[in-house]
Amino acid sequence: MKNYQPPLSPTEGRKGSAKPRQRPGDAGARGDWGGAAANIIRIGHGVFYVTDLERCKHFYVNLLGLNVLHESARALYLRGVEDREWTLKLELAPEPGIKHLAYRVATDADLEALVAFAETQGLPYRWETEVDRPKLLRLQDPFDTPVAFYAESQKYSWLLQKYHRHRGAGLQRIDHINVMTPQVEAMTRWYMDELGFRLSEYTEDDAGRIWAAWIQRRGGVHDLALTNGTGPRLHHFAYWMPDAMSIIRACDILAGALESEKIERGPGRHGVSNAFFVYLRDPDGHRIELYTSDYITVDPDFEPIRWHLNDPRRQTLWGAKTPRSWFEEASLLEAFAGGWVAQTESELKGLPQHVI
Ligand SMILES: [Fe+2]
Repeated sequence: MKNYQPPLSPTEGRKGSAKPRQRPGDAGARGDWGGAAANIIRIGHGVFYVTDLERCKHFYVNLLGLNVLHESARALYLRGVEDREWTLKLELAPEPGIKHLAYRVATDADLEALVAFAETQGLPYRWETEVDRPKLLRLQDPFDTPVAFYAESQKYSWLLQKYHRHRGAGLQRIDHINVMTPQVEAMTRWYMDELGFRLSEYTEDDAGRIWAAWIQRRGGVHDLALTNGTGPRLHHFAYWMPDAMSIIRACDILAGALESEKIERGPGRHGVSNAFFVYLRDPDGHRIELYTSDYITVDPDFEPIRWHLNDPRRQTLWGAKTPRSWFEEASLLEAFAGGWVAQTESELKGLPQHVI
């Protein structure tokens, strides 16, 4: 777009550190990680704390149709039919919240590079393990988001063409996460400058302030979205769906099960991303988006799309209003030393005009 002024350009903000960061060993071998700390492939999984596993299993497995890979008295490991590994862990806990959000990296060397990066940046980190993931590097980003990175992961044959095993709405694969933060612009710059994320779309007001941004590693519209608001909190966790009808079917299934209060917003079509969507709330209030039909961003000359804050087509192309809860409610994030990350209000105040 001609009016795109690159406020979020990967090179801007790297003042004094324009020299690409070198990775030990085969710097540049994969070509795409450029000056980033590591070669992040895509969003990999989320770990949610939930208070009632049976209720969650009913919602995620019986109604939505996620598939159980592993199950214990304290945890469920779920995947969509295209996922070759688990992508959502539900872990029993006294209070709901988010333990961490994890990205896949290419190799163990990327994990080591991230350790060096964390030390350089002064970020707290530690090694953890998870089922199927023997080396999970857990760190807290500078914006207090609990993130993790892994390379090695046990793979399972996909269920995509085992149609006789598809159930419910048929969630297909993990797509993206959305973090609500009072530091959208700074956080977006950091993920772009330090971790090699690329900008797809962003929302700006007349004063040039950034209210939201969509950034990606995988070539879709986003692996990570940043949304202005009190935070940091997880705004939502999204699964790709096979088509728009499967999203409507999810709504029909929830209504048939007398669970229609779980439908928070939509279905509809986003202006941002062009995706067809619905937002649901799970039994603990975690927000899940079912999402389909966005576009690819792999062309090297792709130019980010700018939206004005008060353009009603941005959130729902059809102009439908968005419920207030969607702007105000989100899931707490676990602090590195335990407990919840403290919340900070954003200096950017006010809701868009198109709110119910
Ligand atoms: Fe989303």
